[in-house]
Amino acid sequence: MQRELLFKVLVIGDLGVGKTSIIKRYVHSIFSQHYRATIGVDFALKVIQWDHDTVVRLQLWDIAGQERYGNMTRVYYREAVGALVVFDCTRASTFDAVLKWKDDLDSKVTLNNGKPVPAVLLANKADQAASQHPRLDAFCRDNGFVGWFQTSAKENSNIEEAAHCLVENVLSNDESTPVEREPTTLVLSGYANATKEHLGCSSCPK
Ligand code: GTP
Ligand code: MG
Repeated sequence: MQRELLFKVLVIGDLGVGKTSIIKRYVHSIFSQHYRATIGVDFALKVIQWDHDTVVRLQLWDIAGQERYGNMTRVYYREAVGALVVFDCTRASTFDAVLKWKDDLDSKVTLNNGKPVPAVLLANKADQAASQHPRLDAFCRDNGFVGWFQTSAKENSNIEEAAHCLVENVLSNDESTPVEREPTTLVLSGYANATKEHLGCSSCPK
């Protein structure tokens, strides 16, 4: 029998680093140069036939960069089991913000066993950087990221690999937990622009 796992994954990072573009590339195989800032949070669902008997449903929460200045992230982060933390490798300030996002994440959500949720670091817009980004292995080790990838939503590089790395880490946590995770959040299809009002049901505090 096939087992189906639903994982809530956050995509966070500063304004304009390419979070929405990465998700649209990953889920819908499209890319646009046009920038339209995300308001609040957007969703997408990626279904992966992980192995012969496992289907992984990744519920991707695309958090607006501007939300780091707001107070909704605690609500958005709830029950997440993994995160992609994105910066723009052409803008140093967005790399500086990576640790602020990581701290925000770790202070607001942990796994059931109290450990931090696995986070993968993405150096996006690799197609634009003049040279390769300096290696981030030591940075990841020191700051609790499970790995890092140079990605390009434009050229479709390394996004699948980064997601794969995250899922592997989520699964290894999941398999150490005896309870099967039930789908607890919204059932989503396609890419809907959801406002906080639409979210109202299961995610917002009463
Ligand atoms: P917020 O929703 O405001 O937090 O931004 P975001 O992180 O979702 O950024 P978004 O995906 O909207 O991308 C911002 C801009 O960067 C858009 O103009 C994209 O076309 C561009 N962009 C995103 N990824 C890449 C990439 O890999 N390479 C290049 N060259 N441009 C990219
Ligand atoms: Mg966006």
